[in-house]
Amino acid sequence: MKPNERIVMSASILLAALMLTGAAAIPAQTLPPASPTAAFAHVTALSQQIGTRLAGTQGDTRGAEYIADQLRQLGYTVQLQAFPFRYFEELQPPSVTVVAPSAEKLNPLTMEYSASTPAGGLEAEVVAVGLGRPEDLNGKRLEGKIALVQRGEIRFTDKVANAAAAGAIAVIIYNHQPGAPQIGTLIDLSRVPAVIIPLDEGQALLRQLGGGPVRVRMLVRTATGQRTSHNVIAIKRGTRSPNEIVVVGGHRDTVHVSPGANDNASGTAAVLEAARLLASTPTARTIHFIGFGAEELGLIGSRFYAQNPPGRIVGMVNMDMVGRGPMQVGNSNEDNTLVEIGERVAQRLGIRVSRFKLRGAASDHFNFEAIGVPTLFIHTGDDPAIHTPNDTADRVDPALIAQAASIAAAAALQVAEAGR
Ligand code: BES
Ligand code: ZN
Repeated sequence: MKPNERIVMSASILLAALMLTGAAAIPAQTLPPASPTAAFAHVTALSQQIGTRLAGTQGDTRGAEYIADQLRQLGYTVQLQAFPFRYFEELQPPSVTVVAPSAEKLNPLTMEYSASTPAGGLEAEVVAVGLGRPEDLNGKRLEGKIALVQRGEIRFTDKVANAAAAGAIAVIIYNHQPGAPQIGTLIDLSRVPAVIIPLDEGQALLRQLGGGPVRVRMLVRTATGQRTSHNVIAIKRGTRSPNEIVVVGGHRDTVHVSPGANDNASGTAAVLEAARLLASTPTARTIHFIGFGAEELGLIGSRFYAQNPPGRIVGMVNMDMVGRGPMQVGNSNEDNTLVEIGERVAQRLGIRVSRFKLRGAASDHFNFEAIGVPTLFIHTGDDPAIHTPNDTADRVDPALIAQAASIAAAAALQVAEAGR
């Protein structure tokens, strides 16, 4: 080893050691600042120019192409990782009409993975079954009936399966809070058709049921089948340990009714911006920047990636909904290794964050926790507009997305370590 090599070598070892201790020794300025304007341009491109990006549709493909293009322009090698999934599509808007005791049209949304009614629809009496748990259904005769179920407590898919097992020919779920309901998923094709209606319409049905039989006509038309979608992966090859991979990802797909600005053009934009910040900084380990597909249909793209790991995955940063609300760092299990790094880099960057655990919702980091990888979920809190047409770009804050990108890039750099 030549003397000057030795000096460079020991400097990089020192640097690595400092990074591992997490001391405030590595100035945040080693990375360029994130740009709110650049981040917001990604949000408008995805949510306005492209629009809804349901997995397996043209919007999904266009989203993938947009992300791949942006990453190539940053100089990355980009791979499209294909994975199969069960596609779901609503063929026409559903209808639910009360026909007795008096006529009234309701405002249903088709549950994802709902079965179809016959082409001409179906008509039956409604029976209220509380939350649709086994104990709520005990003794209730539902043969040939439509079950009316309250949202909450157990999964949609279990409510519908329980009602179908008790003989119901269709299910109407009513929402747990006022306003337009969010779309929900049944995860796999249901045995009977199911819709969700607003809380006030559910309460009105319950009142009518107090006075005698209520008959409803219902029409749901859907289609399913096998399709292929892709994870878009930009590869930053590690200089020393290329087989060790740090993942920075977010899902690009949406539910069919939503332009998905906050959920999750915001997180996708933050991934792209983090990729830009790290574009000219060599790292010892490999970093994969990923736009995951088919998250909204059951975390499908990230599961495919995590279960076919292209190397040893040493950490995963997930960004989902980073455009509105207070900046938070957390994850969904008890391994806080990466959360602590996220907290420290945020502090160094002067970004105030709070810690949280994601409960009652799921996102792509789940699949990495399932294979024992430390995760960091960067997130700005729940948003009543997600999974509705109101999740639009004007509601997201470009500065927040830029902050998320800065935290993600700095945390990924720390885990991937500076290389040369
Ligand atoms: N972005 C949401 C998850 C979320 C919602 C996080 C609210 C925090 C607050 C995500 O896209 C989503 O809808 N996930 C599904 C997962 C399911 C399809 C397996 C969910 O949580 O229901
Ligand atoms: Zn999401």
